[in-house]
Amino acid sequence: MPDFAEIKRAAGGMLAAETYGAVYDAACGVEKGDILEIGTAHGAATIALARGLKDRGHDGKVLTIDKISGGSREAFGDVEANLRIINGNFDKFDVAGKIDFHVGTSWDIAAQLPEGLEIGLLMLDADGAIDRDFRLFYNAVLPGSPIIIDDYMPDFVRLYRRGRTVRVDQKRRLTALLIHYFEEKGLLHATRLVGETWFGKKPERVTGKVEFDLGEIAEVYRRLTFADAELHNPLAEFIGNATRKFPGLHKALKRIYTK
Ligand SMILES: C[S@@+](CC[C@H](N)C(=O)[O-])C[C@H]1O[C@@H](n2cnc3c(N)ncnc32)[C@H](O)[C@@H]1O
Repeated sequence: MPDFAEIKRAAGGMLAAETYGAVYDAACGVEKGDILEIGTAHGAATIALARGLKDRGHDGKVLTIDKISGGSREAFGDVEANLRIINGNFDKFDVAGKIDFHVGTSWDIAAQLPEGLEIGLLMLDADGAIDRDFRLFYNAVLPGSPIIIDDYMPDFVRLYRRGRTVRVDQKRRLTALLIHYFEEKGLLHATRLVGETWFGKKPERVTGKVEFDLGEIAEVYRRLTFADAELHNPLAEFIGNATRKFPGLHKALKRIYTK
């Protein structure tokens, strides 16, 4: 069994170690096709997925896509610097041969993926726009295959204070709204939640080509117009940001604050 806490630590994983365990289990169950992941970051989930395939002797690969620029990746340098970190992590866990890493957005890379790609597991952990990635890849997912989507938190809106302005982050709320929409359409079936990560599958009976209704999807986005959220105490927020690099301390302080 891989050491998921070590994978999380070494590859700067943004999910809980327990979640990487569940991701690994899902990869171990893949029977056919390749795995597609959107949102590699520094490769923690990618490594868990690749180890799952490798440990089961599955000959498929993990195709993984990340733009590795802007957002959370900026703190680590430019694309080249991020690439060095990612390749180093894949080597460290001896899974480089099981992974095809593509630099770019999912939209840019979709056309470069092999024609006739069969996806035996889809993992989305990018920017919450799961409708875009479903339009690009859902039809290539084999019926009955696992789908894993991170950042599922219904009605959760995060506010970040930056000086006199406040940044509103509705990624988790958007993800949950879109998952609920696709569940209602019969295109997703939930199996379990691990922390903020939704685990489910493409139902077996969805065997034909699905056309996505952009008008209906726009209605889901329209629900983002208004949201309620709580602004934290500025001192707590300052301490929270300052301790983010030390996850143990950060979690302990957060527990005290939440109480
Ligand atoms: C939350 S992180 C992924 C965390 C990672 N799965 C882990 O286990 O640590 C989200 C990543 O998605 C990437 N991203 C955001 N939008 C994207 C897009 N449209 N296409 C590809 N990558 C994207 C970001 O660059 C970032 O590295």
